[in-house]
Amino acid sequence: MQILQDKKIVLGISGGIAAYKIPELVRRLKEQGANVRVVMTEGAKAFITPLTLQAVSGNAVADSLLDTQAELAMGHIELAKWADLIIIAPATADIIARITAGMANDLLTTLCLATNAPIALAPAMNQQMWHAVATQANVATLNERGYHLWGPGSGEQACGDIGLGRMLEISELVNLSNDFFADKYLQGQHWVITAGPTREAIDPVRYISNHSSGKMGYAIAQAALRAGAEVTLISGAVAISPPIGCQLIPVISADEMHQQALNYAKKCTTFVACAAVADYRVANIAEQKIKKTNDAMQLELVKNDDIVADVASLTDKPFIIGFAAETQNVEHYARGKLMRKNLDLIAANDVAKSGQGFNSENNALTLFSAIDKTEIPLANKQIIAKKLVSLINQHFLAKQN
Ligand code: PMT
Repeated sequence: MQILQDKKIVLGISGGIAAYKIPELVRRLKEQGANVRVVMTEGAKAFITPLTLQAVSGNAVADSLLDTQAELAMGHIELAKWADLIIIAPATADIIARITAGMANDLLTTLCLATNAPIALAPAMNQQMWHAVATQANVATLNERGYHLWGPGSGEQACGDIGLGRMLEISELVNLSNDFFADKYLQGQHWVITAGPTREAIDPVRYISNHSSGKMGYAIAQAALRAGAEVTLISGAVAISPPIGCQLIPVISADEMHQQALNYAKKCTTFVACAAVADYRVANIAEQKIKKTNDAMQLELVKNDDIVADVASLTDKPFIIGFAAETQNVEHYARGKLMRKNLDLIAANDVAKSGQGFNSENNALTLFSAIDKTEIPLANKQIIAKKLVSLINQHFLAKQN
């Protein structure tokens, strides 16, 4: 069952330009099984019509406190009691100020006063307005009162300014909604996950690397976060954004990843080595760009330290999961790495198959322990990660007992 199945979400829209994106949010929440009721402020209706939101939500849109028809259909107190979660997106500086002041001068602010449901705000405003002392004081107050702040993000704004104040992307809001309702079975655990490729410099402009996109490791980080773990993501250079809520430690080379991994592994319960670490680095990195003077050239390579094996030799070692990317004899090589590197588990992927593994949206894994194996069949990496995280936790708990 999907996490959002049958969840009752009131989506409050206030008057910001990002309101035009909200039909997509409604659509995505509904696709995942949520029942969505939309409440709009007068300002919101200047940016998007109630009719559009009624069409995508499949429910009448509430926009007035004093509308007798709307009160007949579902009164504002009923709506306040109905919600499992209220999301206000976009949340303008004005609605944030009115909620902080406890005002009830329209339907949305009244709902916020009348509800016991948790409230999440997705701020969206000009960066100067976001940094204003009044807004920051309001946000701090709401934070103390237990409101959830989803964003804002940073980037180019509708007014041309650049900075903090953009509403989070719709996909991020959908992810946060999922995180909100997810079973927090990893609460109290700290996961350290390596992801992405490493780059081994040849000279100031060239490097040796591989095709890892980071998608598998980032999906594991997202799934572990969603299950309530504290997550540190040690990542090589990738083109994707880290999941909101994780601690990102960006690295470039295997050597840097090695240092950071050993540092953070000492503090964690679970270490997942999903990164595609270069086995070798260039012995003598040229200080200047190498010129094309010869027809052939040779690079001398030296072996990199094995990160996951070194984590496994720590005195107070965490629970350790390695990956094996193989193109042949998958089980044989994976089991060899499990034993040789002294791991608790190893997740093997056959990277010779097309449509899975490196730089693909999908993957298929076989998880090996010393005594058993479990298949996780081909699926989107988010689905694979969710299953893998749950399986890892089962093995982790079994080892504790
Ligand atoms: O990033 P994506 O595009 O989503 O692709 C995902 C993936 C294919 C990269 C991922 O699923 C995967 O298989 N990651 C491990 C890739 C790899 O380097 O495998 P390996 O068999 O060479 O290494 C075995 C294990 O030792 C891995 O856990 C690796 O992180 C670790 N290792 C390897 C070398 C080294 N010097 N230090 C290490 O810790």
